[in-house]
Amino acid sequence: MKIAIGNDHTAVSLKKVISEHLAQGGHEVLNMGTDSTESCDYPIYGEKVALEVSSGQADLGILICGTGFGISYTANKVKGIRAVLCSEPYTAKLSREHNDSNILAFGARVVGDELAKMIVDAWLGASFQGGRHQRRLDLIEKMEAPNG
Ligand code: RB5
Repeated sequence: MKIAIGNDHTAVSLKKVISEHLAQGGHEVLNMGTDSTESCDYPIYGEKVALEVSSGQADLGILICGTGFGISYTANKVKGIRAVLCSEPYTAKLSREHNDSNILAFGARVVGDELAKMIVDAWLGASFQGGRHQRRLDLIEKMEAPNG
């Protein structure tokens, strides 16, 4: 799979760990930055990854900031994006099965390297179950349309 990954200055090291893990798993990783530990604004990188995913350039996206909050807020402003913030594997798996999440976010100040890898693996290993879950996603998508 083609996976776009982006982060702010708090997550440069964890982004490298996750990128290597993804590459080892046979995925193509699109690094959208930042690779600098100088303080920066997470919306820049959240938007880049969200646009890669919404345009179909990437199949899925991963976003990391200090808590995962700001960067996931940002991604969810882009039409068609369903970004989830997960700090453990169970919700990561369910977010794919029930909510068809297309961006996974987590916090570099919250999860360690090994837990982050487990979250990513649980997320990538699950797939959307459709059915009643699709009906619910359709209701959300309707809210994105002009005039609701
Ligand atoms: C940066 O200090 C921090 O605010 C940012 O990484 C993130 O946690 C925001 O949600």
